[in-house]
Amino acid sequence: MFTVRVPATSANLGPGFDTLGMALDLYLNIEIEISYGMNQVFYTTGGRAQPRNIPAEDLVVKAMHKVFEKVGREIPPLKVTIHNEIPIGCGLGSSAAAIAAGLSAANFMVGQRYSLNQIMNWAVQMEGHADNIVPAMVGGFTTAMVYEGKVYYQRLSLPEEIKVVAVVPDFVLSTAEARAVLPDKVDLKDTIANLQRACYLLASIYNGDTRNIHMAMDDVIYQPLRKHLIPGFELVFEMAADAGALGVALSGAGPTIVAFCTGDEGQVGQAMMEAFASHGVDSRVLYLNPSAEGVKILGKR
Ligand code: HSE
Repeated sequence: MFTVRVPATSANLGPGFDTLGMALDLYLNIEIEISYGMNQVFYTTGGRAQPRNIPAEDLVVKAMHKVFEKVGREIPPLKVTIHNEIPIGCGLGSSAAAIAAGLSAANFMVGQRYSLNQIMNWAVQMEGHADNIVPAMVGGFTTAMVYEGKVYYQRLSLPEEIKVVAVVPDFVLSTAEARAVLPDKVDLKDTIANLQRACYLLASIYNGDTRNIHMAMDDVIYQPLRKHLIPGFELVFEMAADAGALGVALSGAGPTIVAFCTGDEGQVGQAMMEAFASHGVDSRVLYLNPSAEGVKILGKR
């Protein structure tokens, strides 16, 4: 038996659409046992898994199949127990975690035949974009580049004092729906503004200088096009900033909104939930830390 653990992730972080991402200390754990006598993969849920957290079984198993197909072997009968803390369909990288978990578990079962880079490239093909997959696999704060079909990344550590307040509204928004509102082409001035901000954000993190993060995280391209999908969006941003957040962003495709903080987490989380409530939206707040670790195989026996 062994367990594969993968962190939740927040992608885009404002200006870095499909590029920037970070790992968070909220995890999908998948426990895998060879199940003698069974003839297929079957699932149970355990631990802190909740009804709304029914995991993406299909994705885990699809990912496992991918590796076994490459090796030319059948998946053995398995018992897969899912302990999932990551809300599904809320912009916290649940599908990236499921894909990374399935590929990594299968790779472990075939004797780590494939490199991390190979697994990452398959994961990105399955997910369609790299910004959640990369930090899910390597942890930290990452920037991904897809060049001639291959994924390359750089990884930074966030300054330790940065905490992440993630406010999860009580509705699901699919990535497909959130991508459908985006145009094929964007304005050059907006592109330049986002490029400047993404580079500035990355350099600020590198230098541990958080002073202008609120400006660097102010995306002008896709958040304005998605905000109508999230009631209370503007007020949540405003109230988070007023309560002391360093910077605020839609987490991935949303609807979760994340705020970076260094000390006012409680007030920021409360203010963001109140802003959602004033638009008739229930929400819950998760007080998170950046996770330095990506996918990990635990408890091998
Ligand atoms: N970059 C992607 C998007 C992340 O915003 O559509 C989706 O999780």
